[in-house]
Amino acid sequence: MATLALPETDVSRAELWVQNSWRPVFAKLRAEDPVNWCPESFFGPYWSITRYDDIVAVEGDPATFSSSWEHGGIVIFDMQDTGVQLRMFIAMDDPEHGEKRKAIAPAVTPTTLGALAGLIRERTAEILDALPEGEVFDWVHTVSIPLTTAMVATLFDFPWEERHKLPGWSDWAARIDVGPDPVLNAEREKHVFEMAARFRKLFDERKAQPPKPDLLSMMAHSDSYAEMDEQRFIGAIALLLVGGNDTTRNSMSGLIERINQFPDAWAAVNADPKRLAEGAATETIRLQTPIAHMRRTATRDIEFRGKQIRKGDKVVMWYNSANRDEAVFPDGDRWDPERENSRRHLSFGYGIHRCLGARLAELQLTTLIDEMAKRDMEVKLAGEPVRLPSCFTHGLEHLPVTMSRRHG
Ligand code: HEM
Repeated sequence: MATLALPETDVSRAELWVQNSWRPVFAKLRAEDPVNWCPESFFGPYWSITRYDDIVAVEGDPATFSSSWEHGGIVIFDMQDTGVQLRMFIAMDDPEHGEKRKAIAPAVTPTTLGALAGLIRERTAEILDALPEGEVFDWVHTVSIPLTTAMVATLFDFPWEERHKLPGWSDWAARIDVGPDPVLNAEREKHVFEMAARFRKLFDERKAQPPKPDLLSMMAHSDSYAEMDEQRFIGAIALLLVGGNDTTRNSMSGLIERINQFPDAWAAVNADPKRLAEGAATETIRLQTPIAHMRRTATRDIEFRGKQIRKGDKVVMWYNSANRDEAVFPDGDRWDPERENSRRHLSFGYGIHRCLGARLAELQLTTLIDEMAKRDMEVKLAGEPVRLPSCFTHGLEHLPVTMSRRHG
């Protein structure tokens, strides 16, 4: 079997992501060495899993492939290397993971989401109606960030007038590239501890009040969140903030790139959003893959697809690659709102850790598409997108566009 060599085999390199040049490298890995050992990188040695079925197999065996922060956690960067370890339930194994997940699951049931749907539509409409016509503006900062921030503030019942603080905290918590750099690491800690202090105060207030349906109140009144050390508390908040913020935001930005790349498909969605808005949202999430990877750590030696993975090895699952696996998604780079198996994408992960906010994210994005179509909106790229230099949060910092609308 062919074995790729450095630097090609190191797909964590920031330049691949900031230059948007990762596609051919992953295609080569899928074809030639789908379980690939990278012997050195900024984050140390790691395995790359790049095919769809192999990721499903890894996620389906959490006893062998652990998520626990005690082994280093769920991103390619080891959590032990930072003062902000983010002991969140996504970075725990069962039973603690399952207990904590169950306690906040009611925040995103179909009934709760049904109740939120009207508010989501109202806020989306407001933001779209305020967009300037005929001038260049930044879609990320004018649409994606305000919409997702408003939603997260609603979920936590976070003070509305302070909601501008949320995206900054979330961005710093999600930055995994800073760890080995002491200056950036200290800066990250400062922001994350500031976030924790504000949320701790709110948490204590909610605890003293009768239960309410917001996430913070649910946590404050649940047994499994009652006794949390500082790192667990920070982790619990950061998980929901990053989960709700960066991911959905980057899907909303990715949508604009896709509709510019595939104008005919967008014309079809625009003409018949009732039939196609949901598929367009799913396809956008598949192709954007806002979380490019999750990592596991092997808890024992295991032979996997002919490779010898050793206890303690990092195993990195590249969802962006699985979502383009030719065996599952033919012509995988095409944005096709009518694609029949689009929902099989792995952007939300798989198995016991599958994203808790998936339905909410889909609802937000479908509503955005639907409201854009109602206004018969054309959004055109008006400059080069600026991408994040991260192999974890796959997204955009700036996206200059112009917009025109025929209705609304
Ligand atoms: C397009 C938007 C989103 C994407 C792409 C996304 C992606 C992911 C991924 C990849 C995982 C890990 C799955 C695994 O390990 O198998 C995850 C877990 C999680 N997500 Fe999301 N997410 C999104 C939106 C949200 C939202 C809006 C929320 C919160 C309201 C949220 C909350 C969570 C939580 C709590 C977990 C941990 C689940 C567990 O460990 O059991 N996510 N998400």
